Amino acid sequence: MKSFSSKTSTILLVCLLFRACLDVEGQGCSPSGKIMGKKPPPGQCNKENDSDCCVQGKMYTTYKCSPAISSQTKATLTINSFEKDGDGGGPSECDGKYHSDDLPVVALSTGWYKGGSRCHNNITISANGRSVVAMVVDECDSTMGCDQDHDYQPPCPNNIVDASKAVWKALGIPQDNWGDLDITWSDA
Ligand SMILES: *[C@@H]1O[C@H](CO)[C@@H](O)[C@H](O)[C@H]1NC(C)=O
Ligand SMILES: *[C@@H]1O[C@H](CO)[C@@H](O)[C@H](O)[C@H]1NC(C)=O
Repeated sequence: MKSFSSKTSTILLVCLLFRACLDVEGQGCSPSGKIMGKKPPPGQCNKENDSDCCVQGKMYTTYKCSPAISSQTKATLTINSFEKDGDGGGPSECDGKYHSDDLPVVALSTGWYKGGSRCHNNITISANGRSVVAMVVDECDSTMGCDQDHDYQPPCPNNIVDASKAVWKALGIPQDNWGDLDITWSDA
């Protein structure tokens, strides 16, 4: 009897701790839904630069929110082309235009993009002992994906700063390591 109840309370404690960890991790931002992956039509989903393509039948989690913003918000830096025929899909959400990858521009996950209210604002991105100021021009859509508008790529995670190559260069990251990087950012 004693061993049963202590086992039960251990399980309860572990569950509580796990939940607490999840809450801190997501900072109160829970998934908003799931979408089912569709196979990209022939010639769609540009795999250059390690872009992810949706997999038929795979479920992808969607988010309408992003983790809370602080003076040093943690994020994952990814690489994107904002040029026509690049891997970013359509033109930028903020202005319906394409942008040169030689300029420091970024897309933010839906929650941080905040319905466009950060459009053309600048953010400071820090990593590798350096920092760079970049302009927000696009949304990295965490609510949708796996369609033509998103080049058949999965929905964006909710903690992404998706950056042009100019940002990666300015941070001094060797080209071989471009792809995924832990960074912090703040409004400039
Ligand atoms: C891949 O990345 C390089 C560097 O940013 C860029 O010049 C090129 O256009 C990208 N390719 C695609 C298909 O986006
Ligand atoms: C962001 O930086 C760019 C380039 O320096 C500048 O042209 C633009 O006005 C800045 N945006 C804001 C909102 O200050």
